[in-house]
Amino acid sequence: MLKTVVMQGKVVVITGATSGIGEVAAQKLAAMGARIVMIARNSERAASTLSRLRQIAPGVEHRVHYADLSRLGEMRRVARQIALAEPRIDVLINNAGAAFDRRQVNEEGIELTFATNHLSYFVLTEGLRESLLAAGAARIVNTSSEAHRRAKLDFDDLQFTKRYRLFAAYGRSKLCNILFTRELARRLEKNAVTANCLHPGFVATRIGDNNRGPVSYLFRFAKIFALSPEKGAETIVYLASSNDVANSNGQYFYKCRPLAPSKEAQDDVAARRLWEETERLAKIFPSFEEGPPRRSN
Ligand SMILES: NC(=O)c1ccc[n+]([C@@H]2O[C@H](COP(=O)([O-])OP(=O)(O)OC[C@H]3O[C@@H](n4cnc5c(N)ncnc54)[C@H](OP(=O)(O)O)[C@@H]3O)[C@@H](O)[C@H]2O)c1
Repeated sequence: MLKTVVMQGKVVVITGATSGIGEVAAQKLAAMGARIVMIARNSERAASTLSRLRQIAPGVEHRVHYADLSRLGEMRRVARQIALAEPRIDVLINNAGAAFDRRQVNEEGIELTFATNHLSYFVLTEGLRESLLAAGAARIVNTSSEAHRRAKLDFDDLQFTKRYRLFAAYGRSKLCNILFTRELARRLEKNAVTANCLHPGFVATRIGDNNRGPVSYLFRFAKIFALSPEKGAETIVYLASSNDVANSNGQYFYKCRPLAPSKEAQDDVAARRLWEETERLAKIFPSFEEGPPRRSN
């Protein structure tokens, strides 16, 4: 049986809670007593998620902050806004993600898969650092994917200016999620905050539906055989709430169990270099500083 920490009164910041896996995870955590602070870009879907959360847990002040997480300026603004509004954050779930069949860039010139799936995880985590440290044993949960298995990093062309392909770019962004989690965990070692990542399984959500033509048909057909979002949310909820993983740090999980990721995803030199490249790109805050020794829970 899973041992669950008390979520009553805990503050959970989550991205991608207007659909799919994140929406179910937010509902489950709200049902356990958490106050949900979500970051969303679509006001209709956010209102619908919020109203469901308020039905599940009436009287709790669930909130929404709006931002398009494919745009660096918006990532930074929303991180600042939430840091001001939430001086203590117990759980940060970086979950928003997308797959694009054509190479597109945002107004800062950053490729959209890389920006949405990797850079937003980095900028939000760094921007909310003080609030996470203030909670003591806070948890950071990053949604990655088994799609990372065949991916490789190319530090000379991280954003696929040459030969962009959807599955290569998406897989690389999910490899970045694991390497980011590893390096973050290493930097957090002297604090009580932990960082872990996960594969939710292949889940029937809206992922890929933003594309047109053959790619969209491929996604829709494959999803006939996929898991339900309820099943897909299980490992997120587990990492956010179970006592079993109170001291896990830097690990990759699938079906609520640790799983060894690919060789590339275990490369600590690459993880450190990716952090530095991302930090340079994000042109932001200093990284997590060393703090007091880790508390055991
Ligand atoms: N489904 C799978 O089989 C699978 C497998 C492995 C990993 N994953 C990962 O699971 C995570 C959740 O995906 P999902 O499958 O639940 O897909 P989904 O139903 O498409 O949900 C994606 C969520 O991310 C949000 N999002 C996307 N781009 C955004 C942006 N620019 N700004 C703000 N929010 C944005 C979406 O908001 P909107 O409602 O506004 O679109 C939505 O809430 C992703 O990281 C994905 O890579 C999924």
